[in-house]
Amino acid sequence: MNPKILIIGACGQIGSELTQKLRAIHGADNVIASDINYGNLDVVNSGLFEILDAQDYSSMKICVEKYNIDTIYLMAAMLSATGEKYPMKAWDLNMDSLFNVLNLAKNKIINKIFWPSSIAVFGPTTPKENTPQYTVMEPTTVYGITKQVGERWCEYYHNKYNVDVRSIRYPGIISWKTLPGGGTTDYAVDIYHKALADNHYDCFLSEHTELPMMFMDDAIEATIKIMQAPPDAIKIRSSYNLAAISFTPEHVVKSIKSHLKDFTVSYEPDFRQEIADSWPKSIDDNHARKDWNWSHHYDLEAITNEMLTNLKSLANQNS
Ligand code: SER
Repeated sequence: MNPKILIIGACGQIGSELTQKLRAIHGADNVIASDINYGNLDVVNSGLFEILDAQDYSSMKICVEKYNIDTIYLMAAMLSATGEKYPMKAWDLNMDSLFNVLNLAKNKIINKIFWPSSIAVFGPTTPKENTPQYTVMEPTTVYGITKQVGERWCEYYHNKYNVDVRSIRYPGIISWKTLPGGGTTDYAVDIYHKALADNHYDCFLSEHTELPMMFMDDAIEATIKIMQAPPDAIKIRSSYNLAAISFTPEHVVKSIKSHLKDFTVSYEPDFRQEIADSWPKSIDDNHARKDWNWSHHYDLEAITNEMLTNLKSLANQNS
């Protein structure tokens, strides 16, 4: 039987593509998209859509009961860079929304949750190369603190209340359909847009800053995979390390230059450099690969190809 799904934060970078994929798998009538505003008309116009404030438990409960929802994907969050500008707002949004969803499950109103964590749970004292699943975690951003605390609460709700909550620590996600907003890894999306529009990019991270990254299609596949796995395959109820590739701005520039040879870049690191420097360079995700059969498909060359081809054809359609 198809689950009845509510996606919260469906207009965002990951939420928008996840919504379309889940509608294709489960049928448009079984996937209700929601967000705080009509931020993405493709999502709003392609199926059921509700305006929903993720911090408002009563509205969330009304929406869940209206559609008989049993599964929630909570994709709303304030990311690392914006979170540093509005620390209390980031704390309130990221924690309130998680508790609302966890409590709906604790109260048996829904029975399954997907909640994303992030590489931001790690900090400067974490081993940087091949960061293990279980290691020192001392995040220094508000976003990272909310994700680290959130992981502990997910595990707690699973252990104490038997809540079926599943989570992965996303690396930086690269996509062409919907722009990311307020993250430190966003440069790896911006750079493709600017390469095509201006043949030049001012990069806010330094050229050798290596971070774990992943193409959107891989991220969506991981999300669907962990949610489709049988409950006893999910051995980790905090959040799984998840990895595809790692690269620096310099690597992306080289890859873009193989398509656009006149592309230039200048490096002007800002406050996001310190955030990036606190995160791992690469991630060991063998638990995800072993427990629910995760594997990635896109390397940097394939990502560059997808990004440039699709952004070019979007620009042609709009001109
Ligand atoms: N992409 C996120 C950020 O940069 C990390 O999860 O904030």
